[in-house]
Amino acid sequence: MKRKVTKAVFPVAGLGTRFLPATKSVPKEIMTLVDKPLIQYAIDEARAAGITEFIFVTSRGKSALEDYFDNAPELEAELQRKGKTDLMNVLETTNMDSGAIAYIRQHKPMGLGHAVWCARRLVGDEPFAVILPDDVIAAEKPCLAQMVEAYEETGGCMVAAMRVPEEKASAYGILDAASDGIERKIPVKGMVEKPPLGEAPSNLAVIGRYILTPDVMNTLHRGKVGAGGEVQLTDAIAAEIMEGRPVHGYRFEGERFDCGSKAGFLQATVSFALSRSDLRDELAHFLNEIVPVARAAE
Ligand code: UTP
Repeated sequence: MKRKVTKAVFPVAGLGTRFLPATKSVPKEIMTLVDKPLIQYAIDEARAAGITEFIFVTSRGKSALEDYFDNAPELEAELQRKGKTDLMNVLETTNMDSGAIAYIRQHKPMGLGHAVWCARRLVGDEPFAVILPDDVIAAEKPCLAQMVEAYEETGGCMVAAMRVPEEKASAYGILDAASDGIERKIPVKGMVEKPPLGEAPSNLAVIGRYILTPDVMNTLHRGKVGAGGEVQLTDAIAAEIMEGRPVHGYRFEGERFDCGSKAGFLQATVSFALSRSDLRDELAHFLNEIVPVARAAE
């Protein structure tokens, strides 16, 4: 019987250079989409998928993340005194049961694969999820929950996949699909990280949600450096295929925003704000006024 996926690794040790100077002192994952930090969206998605153990791979300068998930007794007492139960309920979502969350340090930013490997002792000998908080996915059924359901049928490793324009493929890990890729669960026969322009085996890109078997940790243990001089998670998953173990891409339902880039972050901000009844009208009115002005200035 397949083991249930109850642990998730959140690699948050990257430098976030695309958001400098903001990320000089504020972790990228604390940056806010409307009124929730990126990390809260990731945690909510993990919880909805049945995750009960949260493993953060952090680095120097990320202590704001640890504080975010801590209790805030003075703030809570003050809200209670003022009878602000709605805000108390909001705060509740940031609380973690004691022992449910663990922090591990990655001492040098040696790549996503290396960051995941840093969590090996906490992951142990069971399948686990990996969530990259800068990929935010708006979906009716949260992306990881969709994947966990699909994984119950496939087992093995599973990566979230999305079609991207051909000219953008060299920014992603790309799947070599063993089928025409129309179905949601796509068997994979190869994977390549950031292929040179024109050499991508498909237009199916890997997005920051994974379900991995502990075998992947053994490959990562070798510390083989790949594209960009970093230990690539894609390479370790590709090694699973070489060993004859199943790997599937999962074409999720939903809209993904690349919040690791400025344009993606801004798009997510507008989109999430427009989906909120308390903000929609005012923002739509503002956009209707400024968009024609911006067009005219082009
Ligand atoms: P990115 O490629 O977005 O890198 O990492 P980054 O450092 O966060 O941001 P930029 O490119 O400098 O702006 C993808 C994910 O992998 C994690 C990051 O924290 C992010 O969640 N990561 C990356 C690590 O945890 N460690 C690493 O060594 C590299």
